[in-house]
Amino acid sequence: MFSKALISTALLPSLVYSQAENLNPGGAGCVDPSGYTSCYATSATNFGNCGQVCTQEYAPATKQFETCAAACSAANWATNIGCWLQSCWNRVYSCRYQGTAMQYIAGTDLEQTTLSHPIPYYPTPDGAPAACSCNLGLVYGNMTDQTIADIGSCVALGNGPDPSGTFDCDCCQTSQLISNIFNICPSSNLSSIGFDSWFADQEKSIKNSQVSYSEIAAMAGGGPLGNCTILNTPDTCVSKYKLPIEGTKWWNPLALPAGVPGTEALSDVAGSVTVPPWGMTKTTMVLFPAYTTVITPAAYNEKNAAATTGGVSGTATGAGAAVATTKASTASELVLRSWGASLIVVAVSGLLCF
Ligand SMILES: *[C@@H]1O[C@H](CO)[C@@H](O)[C@H](O)[C@H]1NC(C)=O
Ligand SMILES: *[C@@H]1O[C@H](CO)[C@@H](O)[C@H](O)[C@H]1NC(C)=O
Ligand SMILES: *[C@@H]1O[C@H](CO)[C@@H](O)[C@H](O)[C@H]1NC(C)=O
Repeated sequence: MFSKALISTALLPSLVYSQAENLNPGGAGCVDPSGYTSCYATSATNFGNCGQVCTQEYAPATKQFETCAAACSAANWATNIGCWLQSCWNRVYSCRYQGTAMQYIAGTDLEQTTLSHPIPYYPTPDGAPAACSCNLGLVYGNMTDQTIADIGSCVALGNGPDPSGTFDCDCCQTSQLISNIFNICPSSNLSSIGFDSWFADQEKSIKNSQVSYSEIAAMAGGGPLGNCTILNTPDTCVSKYKLPIEGTKWWNPLALPAGVPGTEALSDVAGSVTVPPWGMTKTTMVLFPAYTTVITPAAYNEKNAAATTGGVSGTATGAGAAVATTKASTASELVLRSWGASLIVVAVSGLLCF
């Protein structure tokens, strides 16, 4: 098993310096698309200016510079969440807003389960209208939760080597991790949130465990270890190894049914939100590290809200989108130029794209 602490950094290797991609360019389907795009453009400009300040104040590659740059990025991601709440509050349960929340968590390298200030409407509450077809926040929470499985706990089992017991425990642990996710959405294609590589790591780890503990068992005259047969009686995972799951179904990592992990494209289910979930009033949003803003929700506009977000390809449409995109890329180029060649700016594109 690999450490979960590595997951978010592995998913987003160089994000601390980056500006988040707008997951809904043009603000299609927002109550106020132009307010949304100009908010994102301002966020991008602020990010560029913030980076300039860092380069003026601190020498490149120093700890202070890194801290300053990371703070600029965190402010950028937090501001973007505010853009949604202000101008696209009718879509806060959508895949794209949930992805925007994940950009913030992954980029700031915070842990979802221990956020000092929760992100509004993330994860999506049960039964929310116009929600993402998969509750991405719960999936991401499970992928990155350090407390679910006590990584490495199986190695130190009992007194002396017990290869089949250790393998059983590994099976329970991997099953716990994947069952918590497949019990939420077994059929969605989750590649956009980095699930594929996470899952491949889990698969590799349990296969390695099977091979190496089979070898150890063979040296003691035992037979090869089967495909996580302990999961035929998964109650043992709870009674013997204290590894429970959420939900009722245990999934066997070495014997998954066809079609799991799933292939269904993510989309938002039907429904509409016509009043901000917190009411048509101003509200204050506070997010780490020191971001506070007053959100004034835009008025409901039925025609704007009815516009589709163009499936899952997420291409920019409309003049507003073009302006926002141009400003955003100008700002990041600016940062790239002035922050020096050693700086790697990686947009979240390709990872959190819907
Ligand atoms: C993990 O998934 C379960 C559902 O299987 C959910 O109840 C739980 O809140 C999730 N955990 C996190 C940390 O998101
Ligand atoms: C384990 O699963 C593999 C396919 O993943 C299969 O080829 C193999 O026969 C199975 N082994 C046992 C002991 O069932
Ligand atoms: C999942 O979606 C991605 C694009 O988002 C695609 O490249 C990939 O082939 C899909 N995977 C499956 C198994 O359908």
